[in-house]
Amino acid sequence: MKYKTIFEPFKIKTVEPIRITTEKQREHYLKKAHYNPFFLHSDDVLIDLLTDSGTSAMSAAQWSAMMSGDESYAGAKSWLRLEKEIHDLTGFEFILPTHQGRAAERILYGYLGGKGKVFISNTHFDTTRANIEFTGATAIDIPMPESSMIEFDHPFKGNMDTAKLESLVETYGATNISAIILTVTNNSGGGQPVSMHNAREVSAICKKYKLLFILDCCRIAENSYFIRNREKGFKSKSYRTIAQEMFALADGCIMSAKKDAFANIGGFLALKNKHLAEACTNLLIITEGFVTYGGLAGRDMDAIAVGLQEIFDPDYLHYRISSTGYLADHLHKMGIPLIMPSVGHAVYIDAAKLYPHIPVQEYPGQALVCELYLKGGIRCVEIGSVMFGKYDARGKLIPASKELVRLAIPRRVYTQSHIDYVIEVFEEIIKAKESAHGLRITHELELLRHFTAHFEKI
Ligand code: F0G
Repeated sequence: MKYKTIFEPFKIKTVEPIRITTEKQREHYLKKAHYNPFFLHSDDVLIDLLTDSGTSAMSAAQWSAMMSGDESYAGAKSWLRLEKEIHDLTGFEFILPTHQGRAAERILYGYLGGKGKVFISNTHFDTTRANIEFTGATAIDIPMPESSMIEFDHPFKGNMDTAKLESLVETYGATNISAIILTVTNNSGGGQPVSMHNAREVSAICKKYKLLFILDCCRIAENSYFIRNREKGFKSKSYRTIAQEMFALADGCIMSAKKDAFANIGGFLALKNKHLAEACTNLLIITEGFVTYGGLAGRDMDAIAVGLQEIFDPDYLHYRISSTGYLADHLHKMGIPLIMPSVGHAVYIDAAKLYPHIPVQEYPGQALVCELYLKGGIRCVEIGSVMFGKYDARGKLIPASKELVRLAIPRRVYTQSHIDYVIEVFEEIIKAKESAHGLRITHELELLRHFTAHFEKI
């Protein structure tokens, strides 16, 4: 397109009103939510950037497919449609539907994990890490070194450090390593993409040492966009072909269909190996459901099957990546420290750099999350020491490596004016920078504490 306006390649047929609130009201709601936006009522939120997961607007084609959902317990037509779609896309023979991504993680990593076992990833997502550690196994992150240089420009900062991978295999011994997990795009590592070159290298190492290679592929269409537009040799290939090429390198995949399948619920595990698939099927039946529905209704499976086709539409992907880039570019120009280059599903802000006066023990990321809600009714999530911080034996915080805040963009939900509003709110954030204050945790659970922690102002 020759025009610079971001063209949303869809018309809006159904709308959901947004209730306008005042800063005074939001102050009250935030206090009631213990300064943790996970406790806010969605009706009290103006722009919800908490997650891009399960928050997509479905298309007319998805809604109409849902009407023909087959709710039979076994052998439903909806399942056969979904199974065919996943098989055609991934090439994997054994497909296990689950109610969402983490259920697939629990099944596979629960089976493969246990004390003494090791999992290695470019970066484990929080539920991935939690499911692995819950079994007593160890999860090790080895993103490429440049990934920690927040503003450093590199086209594939989500890559795995393959030299380190080989050395870890030597250290732990291949028989103790349960799986190598490549997350595309690398959500907890700033949503950065992974190159095909890197995936090929990881695959070759896995083959050499006979290691299981799993793709966490919930944003593989967005990753394919970056490969086609940033990596040499892919210009003439379709996004779907690029994704298929990556699947062909792996032994299996886990997908949360709540991201790049435009579904509000769902996920799956797909595997090459029959024995592994059978072991996982046992666990699937006792916890999720029969093999032809997992934890899903037939209509949900139809929505996923259609979504998996729609996601590779070049006009959609171009709009998706350009609109996230639009937000990132404006914030960057304004002087907000961000992970660069911009990515597909979110913008990641370096809160430690934005608020140098707030020490990590007082959670600068959570402070920014609260400020954004207060000033503009924007809800987002901290990805820093609240999410990944641990305590040492004396109860002292071991901080995360970065103090980030993620603004995740739901698919096909907000227009350019909504994003312009977010940009305006950031102008206020900058003006009031010095008055932002830290927080202390007053209540927390052992696992995934960011979901349920209570805070108070310092
Ligand atoms: N893997 C990745 C890379 C994810 O981003 C997520 C979820 C999961 C696995 C788990 O999938 O939610 O369907 O159980 N990410 C969401 C997010 C929650 O906000 O980034 P799930």
